[in-house]
Amino acid sequence: MNTNEVFGSLDESIYEIQIARGDKMNALTDAMYGSLIEQLSFAENNDDVKVIFLRSDNKHFSAGNDLADFLETKFDSNSNVVQFLKSLARLKKPLVCAVGGAAVGIGTTLLLHCDLVYASADTKFSVPFIKLGLTPEGGSSVLLAKRCGTARANDWLLTGRTFLAEEALNSGLVNAVYADTDSCWQEARSAAKRLAKSSARVLNDTKALLKAEHVEGIIETMEKEAVIFAKGLESDDAKAAFNAFLKR
Ligand code: COA
Repeated sequence: MNTNEVFGSLDESIYEIQIARGDKMNALTDAMYGSLIEQLSFAENNDDVKVIFLRSDNKHFSAGNDLADFLETKFDSNSNVVQFLKSLARLKKPLVCAVGGAAVGIGTTLLLHCDLVYASADTKFSVPFIKLGLTPEGGSSVLLAKRCGTARANDWLLTGRTFLAEEALNSGLVNAVYADTDSCWQEARSAAKRLAKSSARVLNDTKALLKAEHVEGIIETMEKEAVIFAKGLESDDAKAAFNAFLKR
């Protein structure tokens, strides 16, 4: 189940999943989403796991979907990326995440499915779909406004601009910001350990109550988003944007 690019380990009731493709700023490929689905499923179904902790093994969290993969891999609502996002939305166990460096596209939208998010001060967030001829995914067309307010969601999704850790903190996207990558990982792990002191029953029941109103609605939103996203991927402006990046 562990690969060079995605691996997991269990320690003291915490299942830690790491993304490890530092040479490409942890840009995510179809195969990596497949591995992430396996890791989440393992953690969700293992009674020894109470809390899941997601991070990368290097200073960047993720530069988003691999742009070469967008050109090479057929995308539809059954694609690994959509299944991965649905797995996150349906996760019953608490998910803690630590981010730093680049948090682009899905590197930001997946945070909307995390229960606690910690960032290092150097994090640069963006949801630049519009600049790539694409549209929001991962439920972000609804969840971003719900979490951070309509004004911010409109600004970030309609301009695709980069925003920094302080703005992410002020808008409620992240719970806390730490000076550097190491302290961020350490504090996020400590937060996961604090959660793991409670019983699995009370953790999962509390999370279920917090999410009860919207899980299936979000899955429907993801499916609608995926249909529009698939059209975007076929468009000339998206292909031109991917090629411009790859040939730069
Ligand atoms: N897909 C594929 N490769 C990517 C990537 C992505 N999304 N993001 C970064 N990389 C690769 C680069 O190609 C480069 O690889 P190389 O050294 O083999 O050429 C390496 O990661 C470092 O990226 P680089 O662009 O040189 O770093 P930078 O510090 O100048 O810029 C970013 C960082 C994140 C601003 C820039 O890489 C970027 O814009 N990436 C694309 C982000 C994106 O659009 N994601 C999809 C959102 S839907």
